[in-house]
Amino acid sequence: MAIARMSRDTIETGLGWSWRPQRVLGCIRDPNTLAIVIGRERVQGFCITQFADEIGHLSLLAVDAKSRRRGLGRQLVIWMLASARVAGLATIHVEMRTTNLPARAFYRTLGFEDAGVVAGYYRGVESALRMVLSLRSRDLSDVSWEPPLAWRRPADS
Ligand SMILES: CC(C)(COP(=O)(O)OP(=O)(O)OC[C@H]1O[C@@H](n2cnc3c(N)ncnc32)[C@H](O)[C@@H]1OP(=O)(O)O)[C@@H](O)C(=O)NCCC(=O)NCCS
Repeated sequence: MAIARMSRDTIETGLGWSWRPQRVLGCIRDPNTLAIVIGRERVQGFCITQFADEIGHLSLLAVDAKSRRRGLGRQLVIWMLASARVAGLATIHVEMRTTNLPARAFYRTLGFEDAGVVAGYYRGVESALRMVLSLRSRDLSDVSWEPPLAWRRPADS
């Protein structure tokens, strides 16, 4: 309930309420969704990411207004990225209102890059900025590889 309420008040402001408790609960129960929450007595922040094949979609991220600029948002994304790498994902996608410049600045510090504007993405009334983070190296030319010791024949060593 706290996550749904925070989503309504800090992420969906002015756009209605699509992330209601039932939808949030469905995500938490979904084995392909990673839900990370910070806070014991009250929710200070959360990050919900859906994993599909090689793509992760960061659907919800928020930090309570009183707890911002203390590194919690960054930590939430870093935890999510650790799982995404283990799961073998290639990219993480996220959308935000084009007017949400703080979020854009935040994602840029984590290596996300602008990947285009989606007109009318939010209920046909607001456009979204899509950002993408690549989890794989684009240039593998410098990577050297050696077979594990166990594979080598005695003559090789
Ligand atoms: C975006 C959000 C999750 C960031 O959480 P946070 O815990 O405050 O972020 P962090 O403290 O980890 O910030 C890490 C870095 O991101 C950048 N950053 C964060 N908030 C910023 C802001 N308002 N303006 C500019 N840069 C910002 C800074 O470089 C910051 O490092 P610094 O504090 O050392 O300068 C938080 O502002 C929030 O909940 N916003 C409302 C909901 C939202 O917009 N969610 C994202 C859309 S899906």
